[in-house]
Amino acid sequence: MFGQYLKNFDSRELKRVETEYLVVGGGIAGLFTAWSAYQQGAKVTIITKQSIIDSNTDKAQGGIAAAIGKHDSPEIHMQDTLVAGAGLCNESAVKMLVTEGVDRIEELIKIGVNFDQGVDGIALAWEGCHSRARVLHANGDSTGAEVIRGLREKIAKTPEITIMEYQVLVDLLVEDNTCYGALVFDSQSQTFHIFQSKVVVLATGGIGQLYKHTTNPEVATADGIAAAWRAGAEIMDMEFVQFHPTALALTGMPSFLISEAVRGEGAILRNIHHERFMPNYHEMAELAPRDVVSKAIFNEMTNTASHHVLLDITHLDSQRIKDRFPMIVATCLRYGLDITRQLIPVAPAAHYMMGGIKINMWGETSIEGLFCCGESSCIGVHGANRLASNSLLEGLVISERVARRYASLKEIRKQKQRIFSNHQLKIATSYDYEELRSSVKNIMEKKVGLLRTAEGLSEALDWFEQWERLFDYEVNNVMEIEVRNMLTVGKLVAEAAILRTESRGGHFRQDYPYTVAGWCKHILLKSS
Ligand code: SIN
Repeated sequence: MFGQYLKNFDSRELKRVETEYLVVGGGIAGLFTAWSAYQQGAKVTIITKQSIIDSNTDKAQGGIAAAIGKHDSPEIHMQDTLVAGAGLCNESAVKMLVTEGVDRIEELIKIGVNFDQGVDGIALAWEGCHSRARVLHANGDSTGAEVIRGLREKIAKTPEITIMEYQVLVDLLVEDNTCYGALVFDSQSQTFHIFQSKVVVLATGGIGQLYKHTTNPEVATADGIAAAWRAGAEIMDMEFVQFHPTALALTGMPSFLISEAVRGEGAILRNIHHERFMPNYHEMAELAPRDVVSKAIFNEMTNTASHHVLLDITHLDSQRIKDRFPMIVATCLRYGLDITRQLIPVAPAAHYMMGGIKINMWGETSIEGLFCCGESSCIGVHGANRLASNSLLEGLVISERVARRYASLKEIRKQKQRIFSNHQLKIATSYDYEELRSSVKNIMEKKVGLLRTAEGLSEALDWFEQWERLFDYEVNNVMEIEVRNMLTVGKLVAEAAILRTESRGGHFRQDYPYTVAGWCKHILLKSS
C-alpha cells in the first residue's frame, strides 16, 4: 500500500536520495536517534521541515525529569508518573523510562550539554505532581535550546550524519506493510523527491498547531502521524491532548509558555479578583497534575467571565526571578509586562499529544522498517496525562532504543528499488487553505478542546468528513500538505474522543464527567 499522495508520482521522474537511515525531525528525538545510530556504526540522514532550530524541543523551558537527586529514586519517579497518568500508563514502559533515563542524562552531559548547577551539583527544580525536586534545567528556562545546541555541535563534527533542512515529509513509501523511504517536498526548490532508505524513523513532534491557542511552534502540524495513518500504521490514544495550564494570555500577543517551573518556584494562581483558588481544587494546589490545574483555571475563567486568570510571582525576590527565568522575563518585558512586579495573565493552551503512532519498547511501529520516537509516538508511557518534563526524557530513551534495535536488524533489512504507479490525482482547485487552516484551529479549540461533549465532537466529525474530498487532489506546497495533515489528525482526535465515554486525564467529557474503571484501556485507530 502506498501513502495517498504517492499515487500522483512516477518515481522515475523524481530525484532520489539514497540513504541507509532516514530520520525525519530535528528535535531531541531525531537528533538523539541519529547520534545513537552513529554510535552503532550507521550513516544517517536527518531531514527537518524548517531550519534545525525550529522544533518543539528548542522551545522547551522547564527541563528534563530524572531521578538523580539524593532523596530520589527511579521507583519514586515511576510512582509520580503513574499518578499523573490517571491509570492508563504502560507500567513496563514507565519503568524503562525512569531507569534508562538516568543513563541517557549522563550521555547528554558527556556530549557537552550544560545543566544549571546548584550548591550540591546539578540544580533540580520542582514541577507539578512531582514528589521530589527532579527537573534538570539549563540557562534557567532554556533547557531545550541547550540540549539541541549540545547535540547539534556534536553532530556538526560527525560526517556520518547529514542534516538536510527545509525538507517536508509528504508521504511514506510503504508496500506490503514495509517502509522503504519517504516522498519529500523541498520547500526551497519547490520540488518533490524521494528518499530511499532501509529504515525510516519518524521524530516529527506534536500537533499543537491544530488548536487556536498553543504553546507549540508553527511546525507542529502532525505531519508524521498523518503520513503514518495514510500508510496504515496503528495510531493510539489520540483523545489525550494535554493543555498546559499557563500560557501567556495577553491580548494581541502569541500564546507563549509560562513554564510550570514558575509555579515550582512558588508562583500562585489567582482569579481576576486576585483570589487564590487552587487549594479549593486539589491538595497539591498550584502543583497538582496538569489536567487538574487546567480544568480549575477554565472553571475560574468561566465563573468570572474572563479569558484569563493571573499568575503571581511578585512575592519572590526579583533578582532570583530574573536569574531563574531569564527568557520568560525578557519575553514578557518585550510585551510590556514586568513579571517581577506585575501579575501575568494566563490561560490553558494545547501543549502536548500523549497519543500518537503506536510503538513497542524498541520504537517499532506496526509497519516493518518504520520506527517512531518522541511526541509523535505512543507507547503509553504518559498514560492519560503526562508528568511535567517527562517528554524530553522519553525522547532520549526511545530514540537510543531505536538505534540499538536497528543495529541488530540491519543485515536483514533490504533497500528496495521501487517504481511507483503514476496514477494521477485531480489537479488542485483554488481552495483558500489559509482560511481552512484557521477553521481547523477554531473547530478543534471549540469542539475538541479542553472540555468536550458528544454533540460538539460529532459536529466536529461531520465538519472534518466534509473536507475529505480534498484528499483526492494533489498537493503542491507546504500549506496544502500541512492543512491536509491537520484535517486528517483533527478527525482522529475527534474520533477517539467521541469513543471514550468517560473523563480521564487530558480527556474531559462534560457529558461523562467521571472516570470509569471499565475504560482503563487504549483506543487504537487504523485506516482501512
Ligand atoms: C514547562 O516548562 O512547563 C513545560 C515542560 C513540559 O511540558 O514538560
